[in-house]
Amino acid sequence: MKPVSLIQFLIEERRAGHINAELSLLIEVVTRACKRIAVATSKGALGGVLGNAGSDNVQGEAQKKLDVISNEILLEANAWGGHLAACASEEMEDPQPIPDMYPKGNHLLLFDPLDGSSNIDVNISVGTIFSVLRCPEDVVEPRVEDFLQPGTQQLAAGYVVYGPATLLVLTFGHGTHEFTLDREVGSFMLSRRDIRIPEQTAEFAINMSNQRHWEAPMQRYVGELLAGKDGPRGKDFNMRWVASMVADVHRIITRGGVFFYPLDAKIKAKGGKLRLMYEANPMAFIVEQAGGAATTGRERILQIQPGGLHQRVPVFLGSKGEVEVATRYHREA
Ligand code: AHG
Repeated sequence: MKPVSLIQFLIEERRAGHINAELSLLIEVVTRACKRIAVATSKGALGGVLGNAGSDNVQGEAQKKLDVISNEILLEANAWGGHLAACASEEMEDPQPIPDMYPKGNHLLLFDPLDGSSNIDVNISVGTIFSVLRCPEDVVEPRVEDFLQPGTQQLAAGYVVYGPATLLVLTFGHGTHEFTLDREVGSFMLSRRDIRIPEQTAEFAINMSNQRHWEAPMQRYVGELLAGKDGPRGKDFNMRWVASMVADVHRIITRGGVFFYPLDAKIKAKGGKLRLMYEANPMAFIVEQAGGAATTGRERILQIQPGGLHQRVPVFLGSKGEVEVATRYHREA
């Protein structure tokens, strides 16, 4: 098969009428910024990028140097291109307007610049997650309310995982596709078109250390998985937990599986651990486009009407069969 670069793929998507020129440019700019983040992460201690930045983000979490660097790379790359009306990030309380000196576009970009940052210092995969929305018409200076659109309104979503290879996974609502960074050439090359997540699985991902804090339906569901082939599910399940959502989701995209960050007594007041707008929504879009499912345990993630830029939600996603069982247990309760 003739290799297809990301740029060729974007041209094909434009010809198919799936995206317009501005969205194509936006994806080019975001992925170019991600290549710079890949270079920064790969330098490790030699680049002086490990450790804490000495500041907290909007969620009150300690920022790593690479969180700050990645955020700046994405902001700087996206400011001048003319494709954005504004962007919002996990690392900033409010949306960032496009400086007056640059032209403005019709899109809103949201991102988690470096997901899984507790893994940076131990050389385990981290990633960037992004989501693209249309800016409401006639809005010149987008405000928070303009970003608060349900995930079904996303025009594009993607993540880049900085692992042994740097991979981009992307959807425009017409399937989910994977690209691998060819480091010699400097281009993302299509490595899997139309990814399908197997409906059934025997692998789950959850932070088991929170078990005692979970709600009863989650206790029941995971208890049944752990009971193995002698339990009600009649088969043995394996467990994996990287603690970088991008890496856990990428495993699921590759060989199936199910990922949970449920509500528990410790995080109940916050509504969950993961952020709706730039973590749960883009991942839910990507997973659904690959034939998987994504819920909060009660409702479809993509249908949530957001109430805030940094809103948190419980996340259940991956192979349809298991997401459905866990969601049914929660609904029944
Ligand atoms: P962050 O964006 O702050 O790095 O969040 C990491 C997220 C997600 O990537 C991962 O699945 C989860 O937090 C890990 O949580 P635990 O620390 O509870 O394992």
